[in-house]
Amino acid sequence: MTDLKDLTLEEKASLASGSSFWYTQPIERVGIPSFMLTDGPHGLRKQPGSGDNLGIEASIPATCFPPLVGMGSSWDPELLEKVGKALGEETSIENVAVLLGPGVNIKRSPLCGRNFEYISEDPIVAGTLGAAYVNGVQSQGVGTSLKHFAANNQEEDRMRASSNVDERTLREIYLRGFQRVVEDAQPWTVMCSYNKINDVYASENRWLLTDVLRDEWGFKGLVVSDWGAVADRVNGIEAGLDLEMPSSGGSTDAEIVAAVKDGSLDESELDITTQRVLDLINKATEGAGKVEGPLDVEAHHAVAREAAGRAMVLLRNEDNLLPLSPDASIAVIGAFADKPRYQGAGSSMINPTKLDKALDAIREVAPSATYAKGFSLGVTDDKDEAARLRDEAVAVAKDADVAVVFIGLPARLESEGYDRTSIDLPADQLEVLDAVLEVNPNVVVVLSNGSVVTLPFRDRVPAILEAWLLGQAGGSATADVLFGKVNPSGKLTETVPLLLEDTPAYLNFPGQFSEVNYGEGLFVGYRWYDARNMEVTYPFGYGLSYTTFEYSNASAGVNDDGDIEISVDVTNTGDRDGREVVQVYTTLSPSMVQRPVRELKAFASVELAAGETKTVTIVVRRKDLAYWDVRVSKWIVEGGSYTVDVAASSRDIRESLSVEVDGDAVVLPLTEDSSLAEAMAHPVVGPMLEQALAGMTAGMSQENSMAPEGMDMMSMMGSLPLGRLARMGGSMIPDGAIEQLIAAANGAVPTE
Ligand code: BGC
Repeated sequence: MTDLKDLTLEEKASLASGSSFWYTQPIERVGIPSFMLTDGPHGLRKQPGSGDNLGIEASIPATCFPPLVGMGSSWDPELLEKVGKALGEETSIENVAVLLGPGVNIKRSPLCGRNFEYISEDPIVAGTLGAAYVNGVQSQGVGTSLKHFAANNQEEDRMRASSNVDERTLREIYLRGFQRVVEDAQPWTVMCSYNKINDVYASENRWLLTDVLRDEWGFKGLVVSDWGAVADRVNGIEAGLDLEMPSSGGSTDAEIVAAVKDGSLDESELDITTQRVLDLINKATEGAGKVEGPLDVEAHHAVAREAAGRAMVLLRNEDNLLPLSPDASIAVIGAFADKPRYQGAGSSMINPTKLDKALDAIREVAPSATYAKGFSLGVTDDKDEAARLRDEAVAVAKDADVAVVFIGLPARLESEGYDRTSIDLPADQLEVLDAVLEVNPNVVVVLSNGSVVTLPFRDRVPAILEAWLLGQAGGSATADVLFGKVNPSGKLTETVPLLLEDTPAYLNFPGQFSEVNYGEGLFVGYRWYDARNMEVTYPFGYGLSYTTFEYSNASAGVNDDGDIEISVDVTNTGDRDGREVVQVYTTLSPSMVQRPVRELKAFASVELAAGETKTVTIVVRRKDLAYWDVRVSKWIVEGGSYTVDVAASSRDIRESLSVEVDGDAVVLPLTEDSSLAEAMAHPVVGPMLEQALAGMTAGMSQENSMAPEGMDMMSMMGSLPLGRLARMGGSMIPDGAIEQLIAAANGAVPTE
């Protein structure tokens, strides 16, 4: 183990960046080895040759699990941990120290080109599942990189734009998921994002990388830059950015050395970051070789298939059109059935070990299934060809009992590096669907997309299966669900809106001149649609099953740790085994602060055999009830009677309970600018003031008063600042009385 003291200044500076695209800097003189960090997140993208961060150059075959948009829809931490473990095994077998994932950024707008890599529009879902992924991967002696820290919610102008977010929103929405992963799972590394936050680059943001991440959340690992996110390396050292990737070719090492020599950078700051690099290298050395190859390709393919089966969300199933009978005559329509879209483009592109097609998997069960491509996935304006493909689709649909139509977003529309400009499906695909519906109403739509799309056909199609991007085993998993071998249990982790214009960030996305104002504040995703009482196509948390679930006997109370413990009986009332995702939302109304109508605070995925009842216990952590109080820069739990909704989706509340929660005291220092109402609410001087005011008003004549009867004088006067009151109060307020009051308040109750 190398001691910091054994290293020269130049050697320490050299450790602050990589030696190449994917490797850390070795120092042979003192025996420091070099380690590889590589993508991530839903598979291992190890490039044996030249490296790139756009998914262009070849990488070795690895299992392509479903991207996080899919895995997230399972709402099941156990599943994420299981996949994480498999990912960790592959990482270890290939001698990679750190797998670059998971991404837990909030899906602020459905347009973000990278939403397929992220988990949810909600921080509790993203954080809980992100932590499970990290625990799974790290159980195999390798590390993860929690990314992209922070407020990296669009691709447009990602290397310059400033995400301008008020602190409460930042803390409660955009950082909360990261915080949970750090506190619950301690990822080996955190990757700082490209963008600025409130005008300071993440890579130079001391508040973010040191004050919040380390001092408040207790992060013990290393901060690595996103690939190319460093603008000023010396500022980065001071901010707490430990490792720059990829290599700067030595140029930033020289800047660090020069800065130490000219005194503009204190060497002790460099020592802190160097020590963290050494710590990572030690961890990697200890963990190396934990899993021996070769990779069991089939076993991991089976895990990928299980995960894909759990990822699909059944949106509609009129008259139980699904599951299909193997004896039915089935027309399979749509290019995605034969050419699966199973992951998104960019740095997360995995070279799969094998690839299942839905068409093959369907024909394994129903060999007589016919197929028509329906539309072309390429860029073409050949109208004759389009008409020919459509007619073919109509012809096979006409003769079948049921038509399974695979539509979705062509790969070029969803990628790292740029955002979408529309959330609609391609018009030519919708035309084919319409033509099919005219000859056969028994249509099942299977969607392939990495982020939500509008569904204008919703009421005309009896069955819709949201199949996201499902990884290499998605084709067989889709057949598993279509034929009922797997009962779908996924639920939406993002709202499906009616229109792009309805979405919360619509007027503030993607900003202009590198400034992005998060004007919707806390009201992201369902928080927005609920607050504005808007209709949506499918709400957050929604998803059907081939069976049905009933909730009963819900109860809730505060336990010894101050957390809210909810218990509810969930019964599978149908005749198939299945899983239900039970969700708990809370709110407090009235409240001192602006609040969403309801916010998800906890959830559980429960497996239930047909007819079975289980008592499900769900814990809402007290700290998750807190809001960020900007007056005192602290998390505060407001006391009061909380509404606790036990729900099957954000708009399907099954039981609504009420729980009394003790609040945290917020004692503000009183100043001349404090209002009379604030002084009245002060625990020490409030009662004194009340008495004094009562004395003063008692002397006032009631008879001649012009004030309307019953009027509350405090409502009128409450906003008067104390200093102004002293000046305006004339002889009614003795000289020095206000000063004394302020001193008493601040002296009596010490504030931090
Ligand atoms: C992406 C990261 C990725 C890195 C390395 C960047 O472009 O934003 O998510 O891990 O490249 O490929």
